[in-house]
Amino acid sequence: MKALVLKMFGSARNLQYTDIKKPEIEDNEVLIKLHYSGIGQWDIFEREGGYDKLLNMKSSFPYILGSEGSGTIVSVGKKVEKFHVGDQVIGVNFLSKNGGFYAEYSAVPETSVYLKPNNLSEIEASSISGVGLTAYRGIVDVLKVKNNESVLIFGASGGVGLIATQIAKSLGCHVYAIASHQDGVDYLRKLGVEHVVDGRNSDLNSLLKKFNQECFDSAFFTAGGELADLLCSKVKNKGRIAYPMGISELSYENSNVELLGYYADIDENLIKRFERWIYVANPKINVEQVFELNDGINAHKRLEEHYVG
Ligand SMILES: NC(=O)c1ccc[n+]([C@@H]2O[C@H](COP(=O)([O-])OP(=O)(O)OC[C@H]3O[C@@H](n4cnc5c(N)ncnc54)[C@H](OP(=O)(O)O)[C@@H]3O)[C@@H](O)[C@H]2O)c1
Repeated sequence: MKALVLKMFGSARNLQYTDIKKPEIEDNEVLIKLHYSGIGQWDIFEREGGYDKLLNMKSSFPYILGSEGSGTIVSVGKKVEKFHVGDQVIGVNFLSKNGGFYAEYSAVPETSVYLKPNNLSEIEASSISGVGLTAYRGIVDVLKVKNNESVLIFGASGGVGLIATQIAKSLGCHVYAIASHQDGVDYLRKLGVEHVVDGRNSDLNSLLKKFNQECFDSAFFTAGGELADLLCSKVKNKGRIAYPMGISELSYENSNVELLGYYADIDENLIKRFERWIYVANPKINVEQVFELNDGINAHKRLEEHYVG
């Protein structure tokens, strides 16, 4: 099959489009013929060998990146019960021993697969899991938001932020969204988010004034930085702040506020709950650009620039 592989960790230039052996499935796995694969910020960290160092792993090469994708099942292992050849599915499998999704085919355990919801296109389906499951874990399980509470979402127009905003809204929260640039603000307004400000072009005071709000019950950060640190102090006593590990460290200390860094820790139960939420909430996701598999270098370069979703 064709795949985009790394012969060694490093820059985007190390990505090579080449022929490689098609993966073989084990009894509990399905083989997905991929139509689209999602790419995200964490792919850069993985490409540079960050997870190898962080998790003390010794990966072998050629190495295939990509932790999610959508496509059609073309074969199923002997013990697979839930899926059949021909099913349109989404696969989400982080740091897979079989290699990732930047390829024509991927072998994925059935517990890491779900049927493509019919309210998502193939392209949307390929890119919703990494960011969506991270957002779901953060807003529902870590922040444990409640109906009617005020939630500040920083980086709301990025991948995780767009879904986190929609989850918090669907749970009845009052969302105060800090987006990046005018296109981010416009996108969130289109989603019906009432309180949204451009955090790339506002300081703390002007931002709070535009929100007409002095403090928040909880906050969710998908990026760090000076403004993010200042905003932490606007979370009420006994409030909570959550952020996915990987963002630049938040420098804030207050024993009356819980600071909760977390990993998405994707498992079957999380996937089931998120899948149900997709059907009920009908979320919008923005895929800003689509690249051919052989154009991986440009796709990775694009990740370093501003985008919505
Ligand atoms: N630990 C885990 O399990 C896990 C899982 C998934 C993701 N992550 C991490 O979570 C983080 C978020 O991921 P992502 O895919 O959502 O990344 P992303 O799409 O880059 O989102 C971050 C957003 O924050 C925005 N931002 C930064 N500073 C801002 C400011 N001052 N005002 C307004 N917006 C600002 C960025 O805008 P610009 O476009 O202007 O840069 C971008 O839209 C990444 O660090 C990723 O590695 C961790």
